Amino acid sequence: MTRKVTKAIFPVAGLGTRFLPATKSIPKEIMTLVDRPLIQYAIDEARAAGIEEFIFVTSRGKGALEDYFDHAHELESNLRNAGKDELLAVLQSTNMDSGAIAYIRQHKALGLGHAVWCAGRLIGEEPFAVILPDDVIAAEKPCLQQMVEAYQETGGNMVAAMEVPADKASSYGVLDIREDMGALVSVKGMVEKPKANEAPSNLAVIGRYILSPNVLRNLDRKQTGAGGEIQLTDAIAQEITNSNDVYGYRFRGQRFDCGSKAGFLQATVAFGLARPELHDEFLQFLVEMTQVRKAAE
Ligand code: G1P
Repeated sequence: MTRKVTKAIFPVAGLGTRFLPATKSIPKEIMTLVDRPLIQYAIDEARAAGIEEFIFVTSRGKGALEDYFDHAHELESNLRNAGKDELLAVLQSTNMDSGAIAYIRQHKALGLGHAVWCAGRLIGEEPFAVILPDDVIAAEKPCLQQMVEAYQETGGNMVAAMEVPADKASSYGVLDIREDMGALVSVKGMVEKPKANEAPSNLAVIGRYILSPNVLRNLDRKQTGAGGEIQLTDAIAQEITNSNDVYGYRFRGQRFDCGSKAGFLQATVAFGLARPELHDEFLQFLVEMTQVRKAAE
């Protein structure tokens, strides 16, 4: 029997320099896709997967992110008094239970593995999820929920996986495949940011993980890897060396790299079009824009 996954770590300590000057005063995770901050998409996905405890690994300058999870009592009562029930419901859907959120500070930017390690004491001896809010995944069934269901069958450790073009593999953690079973892939090795032409496959790790607490112990060694950082990928790969199972899971859905400007814009278009109230007008605008561009070329 695999244990239920009820805790998730959200590494949100990054400086977001790719989005300067915006990130001079707002955390990257508060930037909005349509009208919801990036972090809200990650939280919604975690909740759908049955997560009950939300652990944020933050850093200096992330105050707005912590405030975002406060209940807006005054605003709620204004909306209630004004009879704006729909807006009230939207607002209340973001409310988190008291005691469900914890913030841990990562004092030094030593890498993703280190950020996860910082949350270790709040995890204890149970499996946990990690969600990287930069990776936004549009899916009928939320990605982490798909993974939790698969994990009930497999146990071990599981990472979300997606095929990427061969020339992009060096931007990711990449899986060395032992056995390809379709959606599920058994993994015999993992390499973080392999050099061009040295990637073991083009199956890349995407920012959703279900991990055993052993991974936290592996991170205790604070070994540095690619880019001189403590890498989560290496600590997971260590589990393979320890003869424990690691799986890749090809999720159903579309992933957007909201850590890059191009990915963020693409996500904005996709999520905008997915809103019934915006769809027609927005689509018409996009079609016209494309025609204007084509005519100008
Ligand atoms: C991180 C992980 C990498 C993974 C990627 C997915 O890299 O280290 O293994 O493939 O997220 O988005 P980063 O994008 O933070 O460089």
